[in-house]
Amino acid sequence: MTRYLANKRILLGITGSIAAYKSPEIVRRLRELGAEVRVAMTENAKRFITPLTLQAVSGNPVHEELFDLHAEAAMGHIELARWADAVLIAPATADFMARLANGIADDLLTTLCIATQAPVAVAPAMNQAMWKHMLTQENLRTLKARNIQVFGPTEGSQACGDVGPGRLIEPVEIVELLSRLFMTGSMSGLKVLITAGPTHEAIDPVRFITNGSSGKMGFALAEAAREAGASVTLVSGPVSIPKPQHIECLSVVSALDMYEAVMRKVSDYDIFLAVAAVGDYRCKVVAEQKIHKDQSAMMLELERNPDIVGSVGDLSPRPFIVGFAAETENVLEQAEAKRKRKNMDMIIANHVGGGAAMGADENTVTVFGLKRTVSLPPTLKTRLARQLIEMIAIEYQSKQKM
Ligand code: PMT
Repeated sequence: MTRYLANKRILLGITGSIAAYKSPEIVRRLRELGAEVRVAMTENAKRFITPLTLQAVSGNPVHEELFDLHAEAAMGHIELARWADAVLIAPATADFMARLANGIADDLLTTLCIATQAPVAVAPAMNQAMWKHMLTQENLRTLKARNIQVFGPTEGSQACGDVGPGRLIEPVEIVELLSRLFMTGSMSGLKVLITAGPTHEAIDPVRFITNGSSGKMGFALAEAAREAGASVTLVSGPVSIPKPQHIECLSVVSALDMYEAVMRKVSDYDIFLAVAAVGDYRCKVVAEQKIHKDQSAMMLELERNPDIVGSVGDLSPRPFIVGFAAETENVLEQAEAKRKRKNMDMIIANHVGGGAAMGADENTVTVFGLKRTVSLPPTLKTRLARQLIEMIAIEYQSKQKM
């Protein structure tokens, strides 16, 4: 199965092995699948391959020192550890595995592995006798027991002339295994329908009423649900961000279009995520020709649009419903009230206004589940989406058992 790494931030660590010549190929393949890659190298790695090569293929400066004045001002080791969605050490030498297994953090790479909360994977590469040595095997067991993923090694002829286990597995396999780390399977077999973005409510042929939703939150949730194994349909208002790959995308313009698309589809779905900032009102009459500014003031008569999530909530049977509440004041109270009014299972409250949430790359949310309420810190929407999908999957499953 082909995997995708869209919007994933991968930190590739390279240690001193002849197999380091394969690292640029790993970077290239990661980027091909949509990942952003940063590279950190040990001193010994630089004997086998130059930082310049890795800088050129990754498109980012290479990190080499634990304490680097320039790096600390921009992206020091703690920021780098926080930045990563996954840390991959390829190739990983016997020495590196030993130091990591023993919690030694005396250089940039070992420090990053210990400082990060992201999953860490190592792809070992070493001489067959070193690989078979009981110390290496003991370190391997320790790493696995500490939840560090180990990719390979494979067997074959080695640079030193030996034949046996210890060869780095191929870049294509490494990238495949890495991408599986993001495939949680928590929504495996489920069908998820998501609305995203703003709507445009026409005034005349060239003007419309809209809002600042960019679609980022909804698109990130669609991507995360797909990674969790769901089959996803995204109904999106007009946005300028790229459509996620391998997701059915329906483009709509107005709230009425969105309502019709959702109501046509929703009976086939297990989960409905209402992330769109739907226009609550539309013009009662849309002018057929451009309105000219010959009057000092203009009155627009507006009428209510249908409430999409509310209409889904009225269906019987209905899917598991998750809505968002965008508020500028009394956010949590308003969210709880909305959840009840619109018959939603979960609601995710975000404070909007002042540049927060709408249009931004980050969001700060409070999640109201079936029985618990959790506030999350400011997080990139791509990362937050993965957390939310895991929470939604748990809540969905617990409702099935009720
Ligand atoms: O797109 P981004 O720039 O990433 O911004 C994300 C976001 C701020 C738009 C998103 O996180 C968010 O809060 N979406 C809901 C926005 C909204 O319209 O909230 P609301 O409180 O007005 O509506 C409550 C719920 O009813 C929402 O789930 C909304 O999708 C739904 N609704 C509202 C009106 C309507 N006519 N039909 C609906 O389904």
